Amino acid sequence: MREANPIDLTIPLSLYIHFPWCVRKCPYCDFNSHPLRGTLDEAGYLRALRQDLSAQLEDVPTRSIQSIFFGGGTPSLFSPDAFAELLDGLSELMTPDAEVTMEANPGTTEYHDFHEYRAAGINRLSLGAQSFADVQLERLGRIHSACETHESFAKAREGGFDNVNLDLMYALPQQTVDEAMFDLETAIVLAPEHISWYQLTIEPKTEFARRPPILASETAVEDMEKRGHALLAEAGYRRYEVSAYAKDSHQCLHNSNYWRFGDYLGAGAGAHGKRSNATGIIRTSKPRQPRLYLADPETTKELPLRLSDLPGEFMMNVLRLFDGVEFELFTQRTGLPIEVIGERWQSLVDLGLASEERLTATPLGYRHLDSLIQRFL
Ligand SMILES: C[S@@+](CC[C@H](N)C(=O)[O-])C[C@H]1O[C@@H](n2cnc3c(N)ncnc32)[C@H](O)[C@@H]1O
Ligand code: SF4
Repeated sequence: MREANPIDLTIPLSLYIHFPWCVRKCPYCDFNSHPLRGTLDEAGYLRALRQDLSAQLEDVPTRSIQSIFFGGGTPSLFSPDAFAELLDGLSELMTPDAEVTMEANPGTTEYHDFHEYRAAGINRLSLGAQSFADVQLERLGRIHSACETHESFAKAREGGFDNVNLDLMYALPQQTVDEAMFDLETAIVLAPEHISWYQLTIEPKTEFARRPPILASETAVEDMEKRGHALLAEAGYRRYEVSAYAKDSHQCLHNSNYWRFGDYLGAGAGAHGKRSNATGIIRTSKPRQPRLYLADPETTKELPLRLSDLPGEFMMNVLRLFDGVEFELFTQRTGLPIEVIGERWQSLVDLGLASEERLTATPLGYRHLDSLIQRFL
């Protein structure tokens, strides 16, 4: 691999904060989430987060934060006061129009008031609806009914949230194409600004991997995708990433920064980060187990990326974006000259899988995204 130039250090910076507890573990989930036993030690976790953040922020003294994502687990188990305190401590480091998202589980939203989350400084909400069929919610081990999702959505609107995402999954156990379309149609009627529509994957070491449910057939899944994409497009939701659909200009800034290979700090149990500095790019991670994290919140494991890994890491992210990115971004974000991927890119252009104008797959290439990305790994 050739020598790299310095990376452009004015690249955007985001912050991810992880909340590792849930009321109960869903059988499909392999996120770093742990069933809450006993009461939540909110003050203890906040103390750890403050220590963690102040240590990590020392490494990026001159950069401002353009987006914050409180993810989980179930952040909505924590009170509005907890977020107000965290955001107060970060306010001087944030850009004035920073996007601040919180994930919420509809089964926890009677615990706290949405007005208060909004007043704390959260301006985007991501509700884990998953499905609007109670039978599916039960199979998925969810702690809420479809009715509770409707109630949570209404409360979010009443509470002043004008930027809401709904998470939905398809290809659910025994799901028919019509049932998957019903879920999308119901979401569309609610008119959130953003919909994330994920294909259910059976992740190793989950309850579903141990006891596999009967899944929808491959042809049913293809039909779901064909009809689902058309339905979302007709309703004005533009697909801008593999699973992300937005109305107007409501793309998620935070996730888009990951996909554009921007930098982000990761705080909280099991959180990952990526940071560029004068010598290269470092991936960071925190201890996954809440107990270990709480015992030592300041320790961050750092893993410098090898120059030879950069093209693959970059392409794996940017090609997920439906519009891809401009060629210049490759050098800005990796410090490597574009020639490093030039020949491989041209061979994909020749096959009709990639664009000549920018780093983006053609519609045909997008349907074979995994094999396209493989070329750079
Ligand atoms: C980080 S999870 C957390 C959201 C929140 N805890 C909840 O479940 O309501 C974000 C989203 O990923 C999706 N997801 C989780 N596990 C998945 C799986 N195995 N396959 C597909 N999507 C999954 C779900 O739609 C979920 O809402
Ligand atoms: S609530 Fe969300 S994070 Fe928690 S176990 Fe279920 S899917 Fe995973």
